[in-house]
Amino acid sequence: MLLRDSSHNVEAHLFDVAPIENVTPRERLAPQLADQYVPFITGGMDEYWKLYRESIEQPGRFFGEHARRLLSWSRMFDAAYYPAGTGGAGGSTLPTFDSTAWFINGQLNACYNAVDRWAISCPDKIALIYEADEPGSGSKVTYRELLAEVCQIAQVLTESMGVRKGDTVIVYMPMIPSAIAALLAIARIGAIHSVVFAGYSSNSLRDRINDAGARVVLTKQESRRAGKIVETKRIVDEALKQTPCVEYVLVLQHQSRTCRDRTGLHARKYNANSHHHESALHQHHRHHRHRFHHRRHSHLSQQQAKLQSSNGGGSNYNLRSSSSISPDSSMFGQSNLTELDWLTEVSRYKPYCPCEPLDSEHPLFLLYTSGSTGTPKGVLHAVAGYLLEARMSMEYVFDVHANDVVFTAGDIGWVTGHTYVVYGPLLSGCTTVIFEGTPAYPSYSRYWDIIDRHKVTHFYVAPTALRMLKRAGDGPLEGYDLTSLRCLGTVGEPIAREVWEWYAEKVGRGRVPVIDTYWQTESGSHMIAPLAGVTPLKPGSVSLPFFGIDAVVLDTVTGKELEGPCKEGVLAVRRPWPSFARTLWRNHSRFNEVYFEPYPGYYFTGDGVARDKDGFLWILGRVDDVVNISGHRLSTAEIEAVVSEDETVAECAVVGFADELTGQAVAAFVVLRNSACWENASEDELQSIKRRILVIVRRDIGSFATPKLIVLVDDLPKTRSGKIMRRILRKILAGESNKLGDVSTLSNPGVVKHLIDSVQFK
Ligand code: WTA
Repeated sequence: MLLRDSSHNVEAHLFDVAPIENVTPRERLAPQLADQYVPFITGGMDEYWKLYRESIEQPGRFFGEHARRLLSWSRMFDAAYYPAGTGGAGGSTLPTFDSTAWFINGQLNACYNAVDRWAISCPDKIALIYEADEPGSGSKVTYRELLAEVCQIAQVLTESMGVRKGDTVIVYMPMIPSAIAALLAIARIGAIHSVVFAGYSSNSLRDRINDAGARVVLTKQESRRAGKIVETKRIVDEALKQTPCVEYVLVLQHQSRTCRDRTGLHARKYNANSHHHESALHQHHRHHRHRFHHRRHSHLSQQQAKLQSSNGGGSNYNLRSSSSISPDSSMFGQSNLTELDWLTEVSRYKPYCPCEPLDSEHPLFLLYTSGSTGTPKGVLHAVAGYLLEARMSMEYVFDVHANDVVFTAGDIGWVTGHTYVVYGPLLSGCTTVIFEGTPAYPSYSRYWDIIDRHKVTHFYVAPTALRMLKRAGDGPLEGYDLTSLRCLGTVGEPIAREVWEWYAEKVGRGRVPVIDTYWQTESGSHMIAPLAGVTPLKPGSVSLPFFGIDAVVLDTVTGKELEGPCKEGVLAVRRPWPSFARTLWRNHSRFNEVYFEPYPGYYFTGDGVARDKDGFLWILGRVDDVVNISGHRLSTAEIEAVVSEDETVAECAVVGFADELTGQAVAAFVVLRNSACWENASEDELQSIKRRILVIVRRDIGSFATPKLIVLVDDLPKTRSGKIMRRILRKILAGESNKLGDVSTLSNPGVVKHLIDSVQFK
């Protein structure tokens, strides 16, 4: 574990902020409207503390009661957790990280809880509002319609592709309703979804597919973002050249009117080759070993014939889809890969199929995230605990009620999208906005326009977007009615006080609380956050722990708990909570190693933290080798690994540095092979090397990881044992060359001046 030096140089006065009253507009609504919103906590901070204490001292009772009330079970659990069972009451042991399992022997289904329940009680309620990339070209999906689509996809998975309970299914898709339905369908049949952010490159996708051992990948032919076409399927095809485990790809073609023209283009391209494709299909089918195969194939042929006759054989949308279902298998270098068309497949199945009852501890999803080392970690969540706290945090933290419209401006490729676009809102039975586009397209008014048009009550976004919007000025906000808002949230990175205040004043118009939520892929849901309408707010502070989070500040070096006010150290948690991850995919020893070995007995979050005089917590950023770029969590080691692979590069060190817009940006210090030869290289030659490095990162990881700064250097700062001291690089970039700390362990002290000169030269 590489820990950053403990001195964060944070001045105490920075935390000396007077708390702001935390009102929800409920209190300012007309009395008859206010009645609709009976808060979940009516007794203010006293009640928060009472519940919090109970959640820590009697977790079994506290979470058991909530789980019974907030989730629908096909079999009620016998005990709240293992091994203590009843949890705290009567002297029984508290849960420990060694063997956590929650809601023992219970059975339930995530999809039933998120969709079926509401499709039964309020089928015509809007579940999803799809706001497409192009304003005004989206759609609305009711709970009834969502259930039908989910059931059809579920049958495509089980019947057409033979997916079974416990299989992993990769989803590489843009933010569209079908992607949400796909996740729920996977959960419905007890398979494990693993979404790969569609901004990741084919190599990153390939690695995640292989690590997950997925047999099936779901994707879309093309996506649209900020008016541009992204060739999503091409990236998948590239990845699938090296993923022997994958047997099926389910491809959704364009559905929206705005994309028809381009669809036509593709139809011609595909039709020209259709003969070739057809023969490959037959060849493939002859050899195929899968038992579902014959049924599907004969059905498809009939359907193709039918479509052909009804459309006069023209290049119809569906027809093209059918004719393109079978890429030449040799193109993938894999003989067992079948490509299926999403809409054709879905249309074969009835709009209902039963849910698979799953054990509480059955895996729900796998989500890859970055850690200190190069290989991404597959964080695995269990059904019941995750669902419970997704819903609890919606209610307690955001004060979300059944008639609310939640707009979480995050992608399903990250955990925020999982918990607060998909599961949280749907478990609460409210309406969730699925936004395919970006905040700046077609103008900086996009979010405000969405809030106004859809009467959004809860808006949740990363500070990086707010920084950009603040910079765009107040003009884009003018003329929009934002009075539907009752709560504003932020997540993903520390929010500066000015940005918080801008958000509260300009977007919240001074009448809406700004809720800064700290949590992680591993935590599944909010860990530290104020409760809307309850906890006093301090701009920049994430305030107090959520229920069940026994948060402590540890001394960076000694690992001792630092109690009392005005303390700074690393953030750790003493006890497990229901939505905490269960393991890293197929690597439980790494799970123990990264989270529990750094500070034995505690879950180590990886973040620095300060506790102020009122006991409020302030997140100071990562203390390990993880950087946070525009709220995207990235490992510097992962970037180093791809840069170092290039033949011109001898070695490289990647660190994060402060950036006004993206929070942090990536800097790569690169030592070239045969550096002496480069001494007389022209500026053009050096530039072309830098460009080459940019291309490598973009190609191997994704454009969001592209270094903002590349510094070509003769040497890197190293200890005598050869370990790179990244701390020195970070300090130099932060303009703190005079505060490098102890450099006596450097094997090459002379390098410091060279590095300072190289950076200044930039
Ligand atoms: C950072 C995102 C400051 C933190 C939900 C954490 C934050 C990492 C906040 C997890 C916040 C998240 N204030 N920093 N409110 N929320 N972080 O796994 O460093 O993508 O460890 O989950 O984001 O990122 P992840």
